[in-house]
Amino acid sequence: MLFLLIVVLITVLFVYLKLKYFTLRGSIPGKSPNFLVGNLLQTGFFNGRYLGDIVKEFQTKYGDTFQFWAGPNRMIFVCNPDDVQHIFKHRQIYEQGKLEVDHHRLLFKDALICNTGSKYKRHASIILPLFRRAKIVNNIDIIIDCTDKLLDQWRTKFDHNPNHIYTDIVDQCQNLSLVIFGFIGFDYDLQTLEESHMSKNNRLRQALKDFLYVFIFTIPLPTSIAKLYLKVSSRYRRAIVAINSYLNEMVEQEQRKTEEQIMERKRTSLIASLVDSLQVDEAAESLKLEHEKKGLSHTEVFHEMLLFLVSGSETTGSALAWFIFFMSKNLRVQAKLKAELGNDIQNRLTADQIESFAYLDCVIQEVLRFIPPIVGTTRTLTMNDRLPISDVQLCEGDEIFIPLNIGSRDERFWKIDPNLFYPERFLNEDKDHHPYAMIPFGGGHRQCIGQDLARFELKVIITRLMQRVTFGDGGSQLNSGGYVLKLAIVPKHTGITIIFD
Ligand code: HEM
Repeated sequence: MLFLLIVVLITVLFVYLKLKYFTLRGSIPGKSPNFLVGNLLQTGFFNGRYLGDIVKEFQTKYGDTFQFWAGPNRMIFVCNPDDVQHIFKHRQIYEQGKLEVDHHRLLFKDALICNTGSKYKRHASIILPLFRRAKIVNNIDIIIDCTDKLLDQWRTKFDHNPNHIYTDIVDQCQNLSLVIFGFIGFDYDLQTLEESHMSKNNRLRQALKDFLYVFIFTIPLPTSIAKLYLKVSSRYRRAIVAINSYLNEMVEQEQRKTEEQIMERKRTSLIASLVDSLQVDEAAESLKLEHEKKGLSHTEVFHEMLLFLVSGSETTGSALAWFIFFMSKNLRVQAKLKAELGNDIQNRLTADQIESFAYLDCVIQEVLRFIPPIVGTTRTLTMNDRLPISDVQLCEGDEIFIPLNIGSRDERFWKIDPNLFYPERFLNEDKDHHPYAMIPFGGGHRQCIGQDLARFELKVIITRLMQRVTFGDGGSQLNSGGYVLKLAIVPKHTGITIIFD
């Protein structure tokens, strides 16, 4: 009897939860979600299917606006560039995505990306000035030197063997972008390019990999379960201990600098500005109202550093890995790029030279269009609104997901077949494409603050690489591409040959 009662109770609870939380809501089309896992299991997401393909399939079936259940979370996907433009232009209606912020808060709650209002302004006033173009171009020599170091390793490591197939290009690109960001952001040598520290052995790189694993793993979990997971996960705790010891060392190195060095660095370096902003009396500052607070606490500085360490390297490293993959498949583009960049490696490159390379610009645009490294961004409605093109009614509290890879491959918005890798499109037919059909850095008031740095970094690295080597295709099996979704999307299988010119 008791057993029967328990079965009935469980069944009633299941039906209640299924109807209340796991059933399509309202008139927006979508696929009926499963209990707890939403649309994730039925679409193959858990089996590693690329989210971009899933979104494309839903768009074909349900149109430009549809419901998608990421586990227990109902999201409304908006794919039409005009609707996306409307969202980005109405910041008072569409605030930073709440679910995304709740998730990020688990990992770096005091960082800029999690903040709004006065707290966002306090952090932004310290950080944003360092990402202006005039500051960025000063780092050209750092980027060149790091790239040259990688080139030298390629040249000596396999005794100049043109047949050696590199299957770890993604790791190498991320090591390169991490070491560059270490110097630019923190004035610190992270040594991710050192021979003895390469790939597996570098403690920071491994800790960041573990951190990112936890980051991705916890995305579909409800916040309370994710919190519990973080408490019990030894992998996460180990990663945080290792990362914090690096951050500590960077802050201490900065604090050891003389007054003169600090004044000089303050104008150009992120770490100098962060350390300079450290509050003298944290306890007193914490009692003030948010809009009266000045500077940053120790925890806030650490969370900013962690955010920048992750966002400043994974994304740019991913774009670079895709660039190398596409070049290995497009010798025509590579030859044309090389012709533009020349092979003068004796004279130092200047920022003006870099900016004058028009075809280089097109190639980078095409890489970012073909595979935007970040799969999407989110917003939450602060009041009811109607999307202008799909004419869908949205309600306060609705969670919006804007996929970044859909408009950039949508035939309605490109004159030349968007599934063709063809950089010349940006010189001619697709020069005046819809501005929101391609938004690799997001848009509106919360768009990427590192985009100028990322573009500049990519331009300098690619120029330097293309002046020295030609990338080749290591065979259809090893170099088959595919996608892996980490913080950024990276190619799954790369097999590249590197030939010195
Ligand atoms: C190819 C490289 C990169 C890509 C594709 C990329 C992409 C993005 C995207 C899509 C967003 C969300 C924007 C939105 O919601 O509208 C974002 C935000 C952000 N990115 Fe990037 N990013 C890149 C490089 C960088 C770099 C180099 C840094 C820092 C050094 C950086 C720092 C940030 C930060 C701090 C935010 C949050 C901004 C906010 O919440 O206001 N990113 N990025």
